[in-house]
Amino acid sequence: MLVVWGLRTLVCNVKSGKPIKGEVMIRVGIVGTGIGRLHANGYKKCQDVEIKAFCDIDRERAERCAREYGAKDVYTDYREMMNDDEIDAVSVCTPNALHAPVAIAAFEAGKHVICEKPIATNAEEGKAMVEAAKKAGKIFMMGFNNRFRGDTQLLKKCIEAGELGEIYYAKTGWLRRRGIPGLGGWFTTKSLSGGGPLIDLGVHVLDLTLWLMGNPKPTYVLGSSYAMFGPQLAKEQGGTYDVEDLACGLVKLENGATIFVEASWQSHVERERIYTQLVGTKGGAEFDPLRIYTDVNGNHADIQLQHPNLSGHEMEIVHFVECIRENKTPIATGEHGVHIQLILDAIYKSTETGKGVEIA
Ligand SMILES: NC(=O)c1ccc[n+]([C@@H]2O[C@H](COP(=O)([O-])OP(=O)(O)OC[C@H]3O[C@@H](n4cnc5c(N)ncnc54)[C@H](O)[C@@H]3O)[C@@H](O)[C@H]2O)c1
Repeated sequence: MLVVWGLRTLVCNVKSGKPIKGEVMIRVGIVGTGIGRLHANGYKKCQDVEIKAFCDIDRERAERCAREYGAKDVYTDYREMMNDDEIDAVSVCTPNALHAPVAIAAFEAGKHVICEKPIATNAEEGKAMVEAAKKAGKIFMMGFNNRFRGDTQLLKKCIEAGELGEIYYAKTGWLRRRGIPGLGGWFTTKSLSGGGPLIDLGVHVLDLTLWLMGNPKPTYVLGSSYAMFGPQLAKEQGGTYDVEDLACGLVKLENGATIFVEASWQSHVERERIYTQLVGTKGGAEFDPLRIYTDVNGNHADIQLQHPNLSGHEMEIVHFVECIRENKTPIATGEHGVHIQLILDAIYKSTETGKGVEIA
């Protein structure tokens, strides 16, 4: 049975791609010009938002972005950018180890912050960021872009309407057959990244799953990680590789539910696969295409839902701007970033000790 549902309102009240108009101009600075470009695309969707500056240690990259997106200023030192009193908000799009220093400098300078995933390289840094945001009284949003896709927004709405009942089990993963990003660079250097595919890809699917389940707090984690390919490849091609290339974990949550998560950059699997499977008392769900599995009058029913094709990357920025304008708490908060990071840290710790890790 195939039932087609229409999309009513989005959970986050984001209008599909329509520019958000405001009375006061919001000026933003973007630090880091890789994924920072996608943030810029999002700001371009918003009316009365000016991208005032780009900052990158690579001046040429920052200048290129400034030309393309019409920004007035270019910086190579983020601390200097924070002295610009006209900048209201900052996108933190640097390698992970810089998330905490850049975000904290922005809060101390009285700016709102959206920070790329993961929140930081460990939960302690993440907690310091949350504290700095509180002290400054500024908005702190995590760039968990998958929460802002058309399909995930719709499923969240269905879950809130009780369509799945109580979700007690979820399985989620992002496995690549081949796909180590920037071999030998910051992604594969633990002091700069905090970890490998778990912190790079696992963070996305874990966040999406926890959010759909209502963000129950993690209580216990058992995990393993392996580095079977990366170190040898780095030896042959140069550079550092001191992170895992596959990790998995079992996460128990305060409400008794369980999540299994897995992530790899390189592994002998058929092909790259990104999945999230939710199992509830009234129904289950998965993506691509978005489907709900349930029973109708004692018969199995597979419901395929129609949804708008929204770019999560752009819509998260539209939401960030909306939160600044309306002084709203974002859908993806710094606290959520810390909860995810506690799980990631615990999977790494569990690997080292060979034991389960309690999360207080
Ligand atoms: N949400 C997503 O889908 C997604 C996708 C990719 C990356 N990311 C995240 O975005 C962040 C950046 O990743 P990326 O893929 O853009 O990396 P990247 O290496 O392509 O870009 C990072 C940029 O930061 C610049 N940089 C480094 N140190 C800096 C400093 N001190 N000051 C200013 N700029 C500095 C680099 O020169 C580079 O241009 C990471 O946290 C990553 O996890 C998120």
